[in-house]
Amino acid sequence: MTLNLVQAAYIIAAVLFVLSLAGLSKHETARRGNVLGIIGMTVALGATIWLAADRASNPGLTLALIAAAMAVGASIGLWRARVVEMTGMPQLIALLHSFVGIAAVLIGYNAYLAPGPLTGSEETIHLAEVFLGIFIGAVTFTGSVVAALKLSGRINANPLMLPRRHLLNLIALLASAGLLVWFVVSHALVPLLLMTVIALAFGWHLVASIGGGDMPIVVSMLNSYSGWAAAAAGFLLGNDLLIVTGALVGSSGAILSYLMCQGMNRSFISVIAGGFGTEGATFEGDQDYGEHRETSAAEVAELLRTASSVVITPGYGMAVAKAQYPVADLTARLRKQGVDVRFGIHPVAGRLPGHMNVLLAEAKVPYDIVLGMDEINDDLPETDVVLVIGANDTVNPAAVDEPGSPIAGMPVLEVWKARDVVVLKRSMASGYAGVQNPLFFRDNTRMLFGDAKEVVEEVVKLL
Ligand code: TAP
Repeated sequence: MTLNLVQAAYIIAAVLFVLSLAGLSKHETARRGNVLGIIGMTVALGATIWLAADRASNPGLTLALIAAAMAVGASIGLWRARVVEMTGMPQLIALLHSFVGIAAVLIGYNAYLAPGPLTGSEETIHLAEVFLGIFIGAVTFTGSVVAALKLSGRINANPLMLPRRHLLNLIALLASAGLLVWFVVSHALVPLLLMTVIALAFGWHLVASIGGGDMPIVVSMLNSYSGWAAAAAGFLLGNDLLIVTGALVGSSGAILSYLMCQGMNRSFISVIAGGFGTEGATFEGDQDYGEHRETSAAEVAELLRTASSVVITPGYGMAVAKAQYPVADLTARLRKQGVDVRFGIHPVAGRLPGHMNVLLAEAKVPYDIVLGMDEINDDLPETDVVLVIGANDTVNPAAVDEPGSPIAGMPVLEVWKARDVVVLKRSMASGYAGVQNPLFFRDNTRMLFGDAKEVVEEVVKLL
């Protein structure tokens, strides 16, 4: 009876998780998606705790232990979620993935040490599940720890370039495959322990060999790995919901990584293999693009006042400067004066998927004027003024015009096609990819130097 009810609750929770993911795919429904996810997780936890209490010899003690563990975990989780800065989000997420990894390792060892009454092929399958669960969990654990340490600047963000690093990775995988055979045949603890050490080192090396700036894609990959680790744990525990949830996290993380790679014109395979992002980051073009022209806040205010259409393309600099609030003010003011203002968001603007969308939503910019790159690009030739706020690589014409550029082939916002372009940043420094931006030297571009927040506030004041 209890089991049937719990299974029914699991199905409801699984449906809620799918609906939650569907909701999270659009701004307008993201809040609802979050709420559905929270309800799904509450149902799942409630059912699991009930089942645990039902099966325990001392239900009271079991419930008390679970409550104590949850109280500690929830307090730490709530505190971290409250204090974390938007810019500190990637390392927090990386750290959370490491918990899933270590949990999968512990569950694997638990399932090995207390296997239950299995024989024959069932036992073989169980042992293979234990092995794979621990392997994926251990890789996820150390990979996520390295990612968190790099992102928080606690260890050097430069890629670790061991000689023959791809060969080392291959040897680690082949050795683990050999240990799997040994383990399944012998049921011994030694191959399991050896594999765990190899997998921990493999995860560490995989992420250590990736450049610090490319870590957001890796975090998304680790998100995917953590999903597969959870699914493996689900097989070990015989928990269908954990399998479904793990598969949802695993596949959505993989899809997100794929989309990020596409947005940055990177190869998906090279990210999975590790060691990606080691080239190009310090590339400096030797081309002479001529002189750039500067402008002032007063001139920009005048330009905006007389424009009928304005497109704002924000980038990482808007996040650093926390300029989203004055940008929202500027938008509201211009719209009040009858100017058609819209936003063009590049899929990898900033340092997180959806980074700009979150900031603009936080500042209460209406969703319907925030458009994706593909939606706005065709309208840019008919746009009077484009305001580039702290964006650089995502508006770089070299991606289209210069086949030798490290960012060649990356789809970009073609802002240079507008009548006038104003680029708001602090200096002529290059962006994340370390590539010079010929946009700054175009005839229709003016540079407005300064901190994005201060400069936009000044323009708003002048308006
Ligand atoms: P970036 O190319 O990183 O350029 C940001 C610009 O903002 C810099 O050139 C900087 O110039 C300026 N800036 C920094 N602080 C500022 C401030 N306080 N006020 C005004 N400007 C400031 O930005 P982007 O166009 O958003 O491109 C994102 C890059 O990150 C892409 O190369 C993308 O591939 C990469 N990336 C993105 C993601 C995701 S998922 N979004 C993940 C990994 C990598 P100054 O120093 O001169 O001010």
